[in-house]
Amino acid sequence: MSYAPNIVNLGILTGAQMAQEQYDKNNPTPRHPKKTSTTRRLQTLNRKGGAGKSTTTGSVAEELGRMGYRVLVADLDANASLTKAVGLRLGELNHSVYDVLMSPRKLLETRDAIVQLSHLNFDILPGSENLGYAEPALLMARRQHALQERLAEVEDDYDFVIIDTAGHESFMHTLGHVYADEVILPTEADIANWETIETTLASVRKVVEDGLNPKMRVRAIIVTKYQQGTKFGEAMLKKLNAEYGDLLLPVVVMQTVRVREAQAFHQPITAYAPESQPAMAYRKLAEYLERG
Ligand SMILES: Nc1ncnc2c1ncn2[C@@H]1O[C@H](COP(=O)(O)OP(=O)(O)OP(=O)(O)O)[C@@H](O)[C@H]1O
Ligand SMILES: [Mg+2]
Repeated sequence: MSYAPNIVNLGILTGAQMAQEQYDKNNPTPRHPKKTSTTRRLQTLNRKGGAGKSTTTGSVAEELGRMGYRVLVADLDANASLTKAVGLRLGELNHSVYDVLMSPRKLLETRDAIVQLSHLNFDILPGSENLGYAEPALLMARRQHALQERLAEVEDDYDFVIIDTAGHESFMHTLGHVYADEVILPTEADIANWETIETTLASVRKVVEDGLNPKMRVRAIIVTKYQQGTKFGEAMLKKLNAEYGDLLLPVVVMQTVRVREAQAFHQPITAYAPESQPAMAYRKLAEYLERG
């Protein structure tokens, strides 16, 4: 394994000079200093696959970045869907979150695995399809603090760090729970999702009760992929409002082909079509998070 910092989109290397130029381009000094004196640590969570977690993570990260905050996204999904969605090719990366979690700091600094995306307003610690191999090793060694330890090296550079995790249960969730203090829960507005919302909320309560992270709390529930005019959608919104009105973002993210179109251009909707309904809804979420 090479321990050179991440260099992406190199094309054909013609020599050390070109490599250096590319390295400077992809890993320049930080875009700008962080805006606040704190670091907010968030995790996007829903035990159901396809609920809109990665879309929400990328969209809100980009929006916060546009608002002048320095944002890092850590992709803790073994499918690495967010990493791929922003246009990174796993095969071209020297390092990923897998290497960071599995290597000691003296061999690999977290900073050297982070990619500063030149076309977007946030940085990413890329995901890896090898994460599945890391899980048993970390679990056996009881290293649930591994992510927290490795992010501590860089988090002072950021106003927001957002962890994106998979839908299915994994030890990666535990790593995220230990690290993150605030949860964003994206959900589809379908009664079939009710149970998953309650399971997800219960899992957060358990994190607190077990002392894994006493500070963790659900910060926002956001309805994604909303289809207007459906009876089940309206019923779900009413139920969510009645039960969790204090957590529910008062704007839904509409289901629209533009979100998928944006993905084809390796951009979150907030970068691709900032005036579209989903982008405006994600802007509301970013503003809500900004208020602390
Ligand atoms: N508002 C929207 N309109 C249309 N399609 C959407 C919208 N939001 C998300 N999608 C699409 O729904 C699919 C699932 O979204 P996403 O990948 O964000 O879910 P996820 O919860 O991260 O899934 P996983 O559990 O697999 O990680 C993706 O193909 C995405 O493009
Ligand atoms: Mg995802």
